[in-house]
Amino acid sequence: MAGKASAGDDSGGKSMTVFQVDDPERKQSIAREILEALPDWFENTEAREQYIRESRERVFFAAEREGRTIGFLCLKETGSCTVELAVMGVRMEYHRQGAGRALFQAARDYAAAAGYAFMQVKTVQMGYYEDYDRTNRFYRSLGFREFEVIPSLWGKENPCQIYILSLRESPREVILNRRSYRGKYKPEKVPEADLALILEAGLAAPSGCNRQTTSLIAVDDEALLDRLRAEIDPPVAETAPALICVLTQRINAYRDRCFATQDYAAAIENMLLMIRALGYESCWYEGHITDTDRIGDRLAAILGVPEPYELVCILPVGRAESEPAVPKKKPFEERAWMNGFGNPCRR
Ligand SMILES: Cc1cc2nc3c(=O)[nH]c(=O)nc-3n(C[C@H](O)[C@H](O)[C@H](O)COP(=O)(O)O)c2cc1C
Repeated sequence: MAGKASAGDDSGGKSMTVFQVDDPERKQSIAREILEALPDWFENTEAREQYIRESRERVFFAAEREGRTIGFLCLKETGSCTVELAVMGVRMEYHRQGAGRALFQAARDYAAAAGYAFMQVKTVQMGYYEDYDRTNRFYRSLGFREFEVIPSLWGKENPCQIYILSLRESPREVILNRRSYRGKYKPEKVPEADLALILEAGLAAPSGCNRQTTSLIAVDDEALLDRLRAEIDPPVAETAPALICVLTQRINAYRDRCFATQDYAAAIENMLLMIRALGYESCWYEGHITDTDRIGDRLAAILGVPEPYELVCILPVGRAESEPAVPKKKPFEERAWMNGFGNPCRR
């Protein structure tokens, strides 16, 4: 069960830092220091000692204020897609000052970037003890939702409430939060299964007269990536662990109408959204790939692409090292209307 965290705590926070701890000895000593200072929540010595022992192996975040460690949080993998907020404690005198929320935010960012889809946390069900009711309210305020109650896990006086939180964005959030990322990528391989999901999203896009003029090649082989990168001048996506190359066939959809550009644009946007939905970043690189120096043709030759396919765009895929820049967009009111040009659309 995760210990009680500070609740409703947006006030203080000045000079507080949250950081990840790797050294097992340090993890254990922080866990001991904090949990022993919270006897109301961690009174059972056996359980407390277990948390302290296990903290050595956990992903561990600590919060510090003015040189003093004031709280910590541990994450534990409970399935390939799910991580558990296994234990969390904040010194009593620092409750309601943002430490719990800051620790959670760091843990959530970590878990999302590591590719987990869900975070779970267990506590005593609402309605039994005032202290744990506050813990329940805190988790709910972070976005956790009731998943299941297991009455037998900790005995019938302490029914175990499992909360669950999706670490993935909603479709609207994916669309609105997608950005062109031009920063560095973490050196983590993208699983082939994720690349397949991205390719599948691309191929699911609409195409003029269903001509399906777009084809795709994912590349994650380091030697091959190096050969491709050597052709890209000025260099882009140099640190991306995978690239998706977009191929088109400029064939007519009907009569003399060719929709190949629209087709691959729709495929690219689908892929950019899937990339974001899976927690990766990307950027639509078409400008200098298709410029007069024909970088796309040289990339196509390396990949053995036959005529009449044309390589028109590359999309890097990887976990971002930094936040994407947010470009200025024109206001909604300037570009979207209702029932005729210029009529406001109320939101
Ligand atoms: C057809 C097309 C070609 C693009 N080519 C490039 C490119 O070569 N290099 C680049 O850095 N960004 C490229 N972009 C990304 C745009 O610069 C980017 O979408 C735009 O600045 C808006 O930013 P946002 O994607 O974060 O909303 C391209 C976008 C489109 C739609």
